[in-house]
This record gives sequence, C-alpha cells and structure tokens, in this order.
Amino acid sequence: MSLVVEAKGLKKYYDGVKAVDGLDLEIGEGEIYGLLGPNGAGKTTTILILLGLTEPTAGEVKVLGYNPAREPLKVKRLTGYLPENLGFYDDLSARENLLYTAYLNRIPEREAKKRVAEVLEIVGLSDVAERRVGAFSRGMRQRLGIADVLLKDPKFVILDEPTSGIDPEGAQQILEMIVRLREEKGMTIMLSSHLLHQVQRICDRVGIIHQGKLVAQGSVGELGAVVEEGQHLFEVRASRVDEALLDTLRGIEGVTSVEVEGDLIRVKATEDVRPRIARAVIESGAELVELKGHTYTLEEIYLRYFQE
Ligand SMILES: Nc1ncnc2c1ncn2[C@@H]1O[C@H](COP(=O)(O)OP(=O)(O)OP(=O)(O)O)[C@@H](O)[C@H]1O
Ligand SMILES: [Mg+2]
Repeated sequence: MSLVVEAKGLKKYYDGVKAVDGLDLEIGEGEIYGLLGPNGAGKTTTILILLGLTEPTAGEVKVLGYNPAREPLKVKRLTGYLPENLGFYDDLSARENLLYTAYLNRIPEREAKKRVAEVLEIVGLSDVAERRVGAFSRGMRQRLGIADVLLKDPKFVILDEPTSGIDPEGAQQILEMIVRLREEKGMTIMLSSHLLHQVQRICDRVGIIHQGKLVAQGSVGELGAVVEEGQHLFEVRASRVDEALLDTLRGIEGVTSVEVEGDLIRVKATEDVRPRIARAVIESGAELVELKGHTYTLEEIYLRYFQE
C-alpha cells in the first residue's frame, strides 16, 4: 500500500503554544482516516501543515510524495480541502459559486458546466442549485463545500470538521457521502472531528490527538483491544468495606488501583483478577454482593485520554 501522508516528528510552535508537538502520521491510499481530538488539540494546525499552508517548526512531511512546504502547488493540485469555515458568495447561487471555483481552477467552461452538474448531484444539491447560497442551511453549505472540494477530482481529500454544527441526520448523510467517495472514486480521505462517536463508524483508522500529540492510533477495534489488554476495570460491591479489605485488594497481583465511591469499589488491573477479588472480599469476612467486569467503549477511551 502506498502512503498518501507520511509525517514524522511534526512540530508547530506558536510563541509559547505547542500546537503540534511531535506527530507521526501515516495514511495509506484509499483509507478513511479520522483525526480526533478536543478543541485546541492541534487538528487544524496539522491539516494546514499537510497542505503547505503553514510551515512546521520541525519534522518531515510528504503528501502524495511531495513536500508541502516546498511544493505547495503540487500538493494543492491533487488535494481537496474543506476548511473549518468555508466562505461562499451569498448572493450567488450554488451553481454559480461552483462555476466560479471551476474558473479559478482553470477548468475549461464546457467541462466546468458538466463537472458542476456532476458534483451537485453527488452531494444531493441539484434541486436547489439555482438558489442563493445566502439562504442555505448550515448542512447545505457544508455539502456545497464538499461539492467545491470535488470539482477538481482530487486524489486526496481533507475535511476539517465536516459535520460540526449539523444535526445528527444531516451529519449521517455527509458521512455516508464520504464513504461513497472512497468506494466510487477511490479517494483517500482524512477528516477531523471532536465527535468521536459520530465519525468512528466510517473510519478505517483513527488517531486521537491531545495537546499536539498523538496519544493513540489504530482501527477502532485495535484501540479498544489495547485498552482492554492494558486496563481491566472491575466494579465490586461488598457488604462491608474497610481499610483492611482495600489494602488486600491493592496487594493483589495485577491490580493497579483501587478507588471507593460510596459502597462501590472500582478496581483497575492489568488482567482479569475477578477470582482473586472474590476471595479477598470473602476472606475479609464480608459478603460479595456484586462483582462485574467493565469493558471500555471507544468513547471512554477517548475521554480517558483527554482527562489525563
Ligand atoms: N495562528 C496561530 N497563532 C497562535 N496560536 C495558534 C494559531 N493557530 C492555532 N494556535 C493554537 O494552537 C493550538 C491548536 O489549535 P488548532 O486550531 O490546531 O486546534 P484544533 O484541534 O483544530 O481545535 P478545534 O477543534 O477548536 O478546531 C491551540 O492552542 C491554538 O490556540
Ligand atoms: Mg480546528
């Protein structure tokens, strides 16, 4: 599999702020990659570096084999970019806006008309193509933005928060459209989002970015497995909880932490220690009321990283 994005040790410092802080990133051809992280994590900055719109403080990047800082035009020709806040001419219709973009991209007029009709169809805006964009909803604008990105038939598409501010149904439609672009056109797609649960389903792999660092990367399944392997969580209820019992639990091989919340004891461990927990409770003279294992969802993994 050839790589569309290859970045190593990427850093971008703004005086004092480490927006991107040593990022390694690889995206393979035909992949849908989700860059996920909370506000201010460094998603947009990473994207701007990939596009050659800002220079990294340190590190190496290649996009489709080109160095975006040195050959931004080559990268730009092959890459479609949907920015966080896209601007259109509100007084022009959807079709006119796209024709203007085609003109800026030097697409010949006859071909432009054809391509504009085609991309309007792909994003489902053919019926409202003649309407003023000023009267478009946020979801419609976003779809028009994607149509705009598709005009030059890019090999690689970067979408910065494509579903932000859009209701769940509209977001779903956009995500389905992204999947179709990959299936039908073989495009490689990178999208950023702070809404993990929303985009995880369509991503082959996700990278979780926090304070400019990639804290986890892999398929959704892989990330879940990593956490399950490294961290098991057990919830224990005993008829009586005292310090002696807690000390015994803390002393169990594999247990990494024991916390009490009301009558609930939360035990974290590197392996399944349920039989040992049960024995400890009973040997303390208490009764074991409840003992259950807890498997992390990706949402919890994500939150866990962001709380650290
Ligand atoms: N031009 C700039 N000058 C100074 N600091 C900046 C600049 N651009 C970004 N930053 C800082 O870098 C950090 C990362 O910002 P970035 O926009 O990349 O985050 P993000 O993950 O895209 O966040 P959001 O989800 O809010 O879009 C933030 O602390 C931000 O304030
Ligand atoms: Mg951003």
